[in-house]
Amino acid sequence: MKILVTGGAGFIGGNFVHYMVEKYPEDMIVNLDKLTYAGNLETCKPVENKPNYKFIKGDIADRDFIFNLFETEKFDVVVNFAAESHVDRSIEDPEIFVKTNVMGTTTLLDACNKYGIKRYHQVSTDEVYGDLPLDRPDLFFTETTPLHTSSPYSSAKASADLFVLAYYRTYGMPVTISRCSNNYGPYHFPEKLIPLMISRALADESLPVYGKGDNVRDWLHVYDHCVAIDLIIRNGRVGEIYNVGGHNERTNLEVVKTILHALDKPESLINFVEDRKGHDRRYAIDPTKLETELGWKPKYNFDTGIQQTIEWYLNNKEWWQNILSGDYQNYFDKMYKEKGRV
Ligand code: NAD
Ligand code: DAU
Repeated sequence: MKILVTGGAGFIGGNFVHYMVEKYPEDMIVNLDKLTYAGNLETCKPVENKPNYKFIKGDIADRDFIFNLFETEKFDVVVNFAAESHVDRSIEDPEIFVKTNVMGTTTLLDACNKYGIKRYHQVSTDEVYGDLPLDRPDLFFTETTPLHTSSPYSSAKASADLFVLAYYRTYGMPVTISRCSNNYGPYHFPEKLIPLMISRALADESLPVYGKGDNVRDWLHVYDHCVAIDLIIRNGRVGEIYNVGGHNERTNLEVVKTILHALDKPESLINFVEDRKGHDRRYAIDPTKLETELGWKPKYNFDTGIQQTIEWYLNNKEWWQNILSGDYQNYFDKMYKEKGRV
């Protein structure tokens, strides 16, 4: 099979490319990435010389480019990870989220429709369901929970999901969608909570926790997300949505304290700062459908996964220090220093 992975120089796409190249030497994995601020070819280093791997630089929203690519490459499967993924950036500047997350998705769908495909898989997010109250631990997102988005990011992701489902209903395209909870693990860009806190704690810098730190996220190791997507593209039913999550709910404060404890750093580094606008309170996934239909079972729980992740950041300082010393510094100044968050 020839599998197009978009966004494979990012966090989850990069881990998925590693997983697929190693697991399926008979398949060809083509990684298409625009290399935005979040794309990093260093992430692709472990596979760059493998015979079943190829990298192509390009934009999923560039129609001519995408149609030419599909005409020459004749993909069997498309897995779309490419997206603008950071909620805080979407609050500052929503437009690129519409362009990449919505228009990029419809461009890929149109190319699949024209050139034919065995499976189109959309990597979506639990954020399309909105949030749950903090005082109702009995509530979980299921695949039938109504879409109820909060941020420009999640609204763009939900729009993309609706287009994917429309192409199934209207054109009979063989699509699947996964909606996963918060990922963590190797190659996570240091603007996101866990790598931000690890990198700053290691430098004895203050840790900006939004609001009271009582928002809850449902953390899943990226490896377990990759396994889920692999199962869905091979055995999932077309037209279906699969929630992905491992029941690892933690408040942000618990996560930050776990990191400080593991690094032997003081809790006095914690700095409570102005809250995120429209901040979702709690995410919690019910993964029953994925478990019962496809036999998915996560390998990591949060306690084992976070230790592995912290060790990875300690052993791969060059990867994230290169990011911190580049353009990222401008973003950090704008979003944290100028807003008085550090
Ligand atoms: P990321 O920001 O780390 O990576 C995104 C990648 O997409 C980057 O390599 C970037 O260069 C590339 N990209 C951006 N715009 C592009 C374009 N127009 N054309 C081609 N490539 C482009 O994101 P991530 O955290 O790895 O998330 C990947 C996907 O998974 C996203 O669709 C996101 O919505 C979804 N998701 C993320 C999480 C999470 O916790 N990070 C959870 C559930 C779902
Ligand atoms: O749930 C899946 C989603 O998880 C994905 O769809 C998104 O692409 C991904 O970025 C992630 O979104 P979050 O907004 O939950 O992740 P983030 O790491 O930005 O924030 C996690 C929590 O930590 C959130 O409640 C906000 C808080 N936070 C974040 C940052 C960056 C802080 O308190 N301080 C910070 O500096």
